[in-house]
Amino acid sequence: MLSSSLVLFTGKGGVGKTTNAAAAAARCAATGRKTIVVSADPAHSLADVLNVPLGAEPTLVSESLFAAHLDGTAEFHRAWGKIRAYLGTILTASGLNEVTSAQVLTPPGAAELGARVALNALVDSATYEVVVVDCAPTSETLRLLALPTALDWFLARVNPGSMLKSLWHRGTGIPLPGSDVLSALDELRASLSAVEAMLRAPTASIRLVSGLERVVIAETRRLFTTLTVLGYHVDGVVANRVMSLGEREWPTEWARAHQVAISDLHDSFPDYPVWTVPFLAHEPIGCRALAEVGFASYGASGVIGQERTEPMVVTPNSLTLPTGFADDAQLRVAVAGTDLVITIDGHRRLIALPEALSGRPVRQARLRDGELRLSFGSP
Ligand SMILES: Nc1ncnc2c1ncn2[C@@H]1O[C@H](COP(=O)(O)OP(=O)(O)OP(=O)(O)O)[C@@H](O)[C@H]1O
Ligand SMILES: [Mg+2]
Repeated sequence: MLSSSLVLFTGKGGVGKTTNAAAAAARCAATGRKTIVVSADPAHSLADVLNVPLGAEPTLVSESLFAAHLDGTAEFHRAWGKIRAYLGTILTASGLNEVTSAQVLTPPGAAELGARVALNALVDSATYEVVVVDCAPTSETLRLLALPTALDWFLARVNPGSMLKSLWHRGTGIPLPGSDVLSALDELRASLSAVEAMLRAPTASIRLVSGLERVVIAETRRLFTTLTVLGYHVDGVVANRVMSLGEREWPTEWARAHQVAISDLHDSFPDYPVWTVPFLAHEPIGCRALAEVGFASYGASGVIGQERTEPMVVTPNSLTLPTGFADDAQLRVAVAGTDLVITIDGHRRLIALPEALSGRPVRQARLRDGELRLSFGSP
């Protein structure tokens, strides 16, 4: 089956994520590929940037280019309405009033969870050759990417259906979930796994949009590190709002500083493309202006990056993973049963250990040249 290429644009607040996501999509569509750009940012400024009204249903914006706003909260309520309703009966049975239980039942991250599921449906339908996502700023994007992984892990190990049944048998008085609730729980698990697979597929990548100020580049490097440790595929960096020497009336100091910043970005990301977008005299708004930005950044080279190759290397006694710019103080590594648990800045990644390494103690963990190498002892 044809599967869509997926590119997520993220970066610090205000750096130009929406503009560059829309520009990349416009550039892709101009080469004749059926493309959709969707906003996963609840602030939804995609409509303003494209200068067309948008809703949850895809709108044709120009030839081969569609756009939509993902409504994560609505999707959450749609997908997990039955489970919520059932949990609501438990909470109200245990004395919580309806308003409070409704609040408890829309957990933090519900919108991100819903957005992931809506995105999965879009990619799965294979209606579009390319799906470009305009993400929210850094912290919300990390929540979008990292939070459901933990939930998926939880649901895969703790079977809430049988747990509830055993509580019922012990006479706790809680109502037993009906088969519709149990099958909704199974669907939830299946859909979270499918979403996980979609984001980690070789055809999915994350593109970092960066400004050229030192503070912004520092955040870009941190974001790269976290995403890499979490196992997501970063495919390049867009350096936005570049003031070039000899162009327009830019203060020379700024233009020089930008020159240095661009070379810093190349040094920081030697194995990745760094696309540059000039600081334009006018806000690039509307399809035509965005297609020009897209052409200036990508030219004829194409918007879609390289498919990823497996970055984890496993030998009979070791496992090596890329870790970006992480240092020892930032990373925590532990083995929990058959999983390797890696924590960075409060985000957890769980890696099912290959059978040959499972159940063996970690003898040595060494962080060097952007890689973590774990050596395993005998069981
Ligand atoms: N290269 C550029 N030249 C001139 N103006 C730009 C450029 N890139 C973006 N802008 C303008 O900067 C503003 C912010 O851009 P944009 O909305 O794309 O940023 P964002 O990262 O999506 O912001 P947010 O974090 O709020 O979602 C917009 O008004 C946009 O038109
Ligand atoms: Mg934006």
